[in-house]
Amino acid sequence: MSSSHQLKPLNIVAVSGGLNTPSKTEALVQEILNELSEATPINVHFIKFSEIGHLLGGAIYRHQLPQRIQDDLAAVEAADALIVGTPVYRASFTGLFKHFFDFIEQTALVDVPVLLAASGGSDRHALVLEHQLRPLFSFFQAQTLPIGVYATDRDFTPEYTIHSELLRDRITLAVARALPILEWAPAKGQRADVIKEKSQHANQTLGINRQIEQAEVLPSAAVPSLDAAESRLHAKKPPHSHVA
Ligand SMILES: Cc1cc2nc3c(=O)[nH]c(=O)nc-3n(C[C@H](O)[C@H](O)[C@H](O)COP(=O)(O)O)c2cc1C
Repeated sequence: MSSSHQLKPLNIVAVSGGLNTPSKTEALVQEILNELSEATPINVHFIKFSEIGHLLGGAIYRHQLPQRIQDDLAAVEAADALIVGTPVYRASFTGLFKHFFDFIEQTALVDVPVLLAASGGSDRHALVLEHQLRPLFSFFQAQTLPIGVYATDRDFTPEYTIHSELLRDRITLAVARALPILEWAPAKGQRADVIKEKSQHANQTLGINRQIEQAEVLPSAAVPSLDAAESRLHAKKPPHSHVA
């Protein structure tokens, strides 16, 4: 039997879109990280918009961004799994949160597990997880995890620690449901080289005003070869047979 101590640490990249200091979103994402670290070894790269937000605006091309942001984007692209959180601004993620992910290479997050989190002032915007965050990461063909975590202002103390037991339970449930998927982590350790090339290419060429061809889907444990999977679906047809 292997204990959790023998597991290779998961390379977790956390993103908090909270622009304030202190930030409830940051505190929420940190709590999720703490809970996850109780259960399995993790290495964490935590990207805080309270630190980098002001560096993000104004750029259209990735090469126009400061090196620090380019490195953060590359970290997201190379992660085994992501934990992403945003405050609700005007019923959605913040503009800067979306701007950051507009710079992510389009095929870099295929099959990557993503735990969704958000904090808002109102219970009534809890579905931001389902209606805004989940579609964004579905676009990337990421594996959005089944349980997301939504917190409101009332869940926090004035010092921005979490005092709601219900929220703690929700974090525990989200992490417990995430663990088997994270530890299976598709293509863990297999993506690094491919991703590095993609990140470097993206740093030179990617602009948020450009759509790239959905050419090459990355190998993953789930879909090691798309050609092989497609040939099973169309086994009886000769390749590239089109009726004129
Ligand atoms: C510009 C702005 C717009 C907001 N819009 C909403 C909203 O539409 N719905 C909501 O529930 N809360 C809204 N809020 C409240 C924040 O989402 C909430 O206080 C959040 O927890 C702040 O996170 P932070 O501490 O990480 O900055 C808004 C706050 C700001 C500053």
